Amino acid sequence: MKKWNTAAIRAAKGVERLPCVTAYDYTFARLADNAGIPLVLVGDSLGMTMLGYETTLNVTLDDILRSVSAVSRGVQNACVVADMPFGTYQASPDDAVLNAVKCLQAGADAVKLEGGRNMASLVARLVSSGIPVFGHVGMTPQSVNEYGGFKMQGKSREAADAVFEDAVAIDEAGAFALTLECIPDPLAARITPAVKCPTIGIGAGPSCDGQILVMHDLLGLNTGHVPSFCRKFAKLGEVAANGFSAYADAVRDASFPPSRKVQTCKQDATK
Ligand code: KIV
Repeated sequence: MKKWNTAAIRAAKGVERLPCVTAYDYTFARLADNAGIPLVLVGDSLGMTMLGYETTLNVTLDDILRSVSAVSRGVQNACVVADMPFGTYQASPDDAVLNAVKCLQAGADAVKLEGGRNMASLVARLVSSGIPVFGHVGMTPQSVNEYGGFKMQGKSREAADAVFEDAVAIDEAGAFALTLECIPDPLAARITPAVKCPTIGIGAGPSCDGQILVMHDLLGLNTGHVPSFCRKFAKLGEVAANGFSAYADAVRDASFPPSRKVQTCKQDATK
């Protein structure tokens, strides 16, 4: 199977489409890797999917580092990206470099951070420090309070131009790939040929160079709201719930566990 690093992801633009997913633990990272997924993101969406928060804002660097280390043990070929949590890269570029270094030392190949022109100089600094960066523009969930909810961005002509400029700035700063989240399809179609790095869409239509989905949404594990742009490719939530119920029934009706014929060892038998 092909080994994916950040250079290979960048080189895939125009050659092959890139299916990317989030994962937060060893088991699912291994399954995604075995399926030939090129890029596994330890997203700060883990705040919602794994920790039960309403937004990503509560996620700490330790939450991400623990998951990155588990995911990197589960992956042999995929590129592992650590999402930098809210507050770990905004305060100062020096803090950002130190925190990104921790992500790489935990096992990530690269970091992801949200922002456009406002983050371009930080992206350039990280890249020149040997830390590959996956950019993220459009609807950036760490700005949920500024938006007043998770809302599509870039809808007016002016707002679309702003997202376009953000994408170009992050590309020129040296990002190896760029997430385009929740923007109108025509805007993603305008950005994709205008940047050198592959665009990875989520709610941004089919023109991007790749797609990324939150693992819980695509596998049907999510019990809450599933974004309208997502397709359920499996019904793992249903399968797991049925498994738990079958187990509970079996314990209650005493059909599990069965009695075992245990061979006692000779020494014990003489006692
Ligand atoms: O945190 C996350 O899962 C993400 C993806 C939705 C791109 O940022």
